Amino acid sequence: MADRPLSSLNKPDATLEAALRPSAFDDFTGQPKVKERLEIAVEAARRRKEPLDHILLSGPPGLGKTTIANILANAMGATVKATSGPTIEKAADLAGLLTNLSEGDVLFIDEIHRLQKTIEEYLYPAMEDFRLDIIIDQGPNARSVRLTLPRFTLIGATTRSGLLSAPMLTRFGIRERLDYYTAEQLQGIILRGARLLKIETDPAGALEIARRSRGTPRIAGNLLRRVRDYAQVRGDGRIDGAIADRALGILEIDADGLDEMDKRLLEAVIVKFAGGPVGVNSLAVAVGEEPDTIEEVYEPYLIMEGYLNRTPQGRICTEKAFRKLGLTPSRSGQPRLL
Ligand SMILES: Nc1ncnc2c1ncn2[C@@H]1O[C@H](COP(=O)(O)OP(=O)(O)OP(=O)(O)O)[C@@H](O)[C@H]1O
Ligand SMILES: [Mg+2]
Repeated sequence: MADRPLSSLNKPDATLEAALRPSAFDDFTGQPKVKERLEIAVEAARRRKEPLDHILLSGPPGLGKTTIANILANAMGATVKATSGPTIEKAADLAGLLTNLSEGDVLFIDEIHRLQKTIEEYLYPAMEDFRLDIIIDQGPNARSVRLTLPRFTLIGATTRSGLLSAPMLTRFGIRERLDYYTAEQLQGIILRGARLLKIETDPAGALEIARRSRGTPRIAGNLLRRVRDYAQVRGDGRIDGAIADRALGILEIDADGLDEMDKRLLEAVIVKFAGGPVGVNSLAVAVGEEPDTIEEVYEPYLIMEGYLNRTPQGRICTEKAFRKLGLTPSRSGQPRLL
């Protein structure tokens, strides 16, 4: 997600993430069904002494796609070569990556939905038959060369599996979608993070941060550090429920975990577009955010929490959204103050 604007609290922080990233399934909290299915796939592949099937991981930013890819590679004792969709510009880039793999290696392609069509087509036979047909030279000298590749595992990650083409999707033997975490799961993740970062946190403090982290481990980790700052400056360094509540208040993250941009979005739909329906592009202009960011980062959570609905005509605010902003939907669709 490096070249996309993201909500500041959902921005990856390389050092922090490396410190907090679980390296084995045993340290990985949440996503119980995904975890169980992947553990079975790993165990079976290991017993057969075969590489893992190709795996597609999808879901909103910060839920653990990169983390799981690394856990899978560790569990297989495999080496990971990581790249991302937009950085593979030419067929030669892909050929370079593929021919440098060894038997059993994991090729991790982040943001795989941003791979160019032409590159995708080179990838199909590589995934299916571990071969690569490349054209070398141009004009009358052009000829096709077939390279045999080692058996590798492709792990693709995407925030937008809906943008993947059908042929691409069906070449992944295993497809898993990550969901938002419950507050209890995030509480566990925060307590683990606090232990690793040596931050004194009681369960109530961790739960307060968890409830306001939009179901997202990355946000939970970032909020934990912001709350620690507050606790050090305004308290004695320890985090409890009251300290967490005050710190998050200063960050303008409300009791339901919505931040300023969430509220601006809901307000735009309600006030500027009379509750909707409104298309994502108009909405993006109204709040000064990228349409992609709205679709990938903000909307999924607002939809999951029941503030927003997506219809073929566009986005519509629910009654819960009106109430959130202290408004009530009127019969004409125009909002009025409660
Ligand atoms: N289940 C989990 N338990 C503990 N920590 C987690 C878990 N899932 C994610 N994290 C932490 O959250 C952070 C973000 O995770 P990760 O980078 O894997 O997300 P991602 O889905 O790849 O996000 P993006 O779409 O932005 O690439 C990391 O610091 C990671 O350690
Ligand atoms: Mg990632």
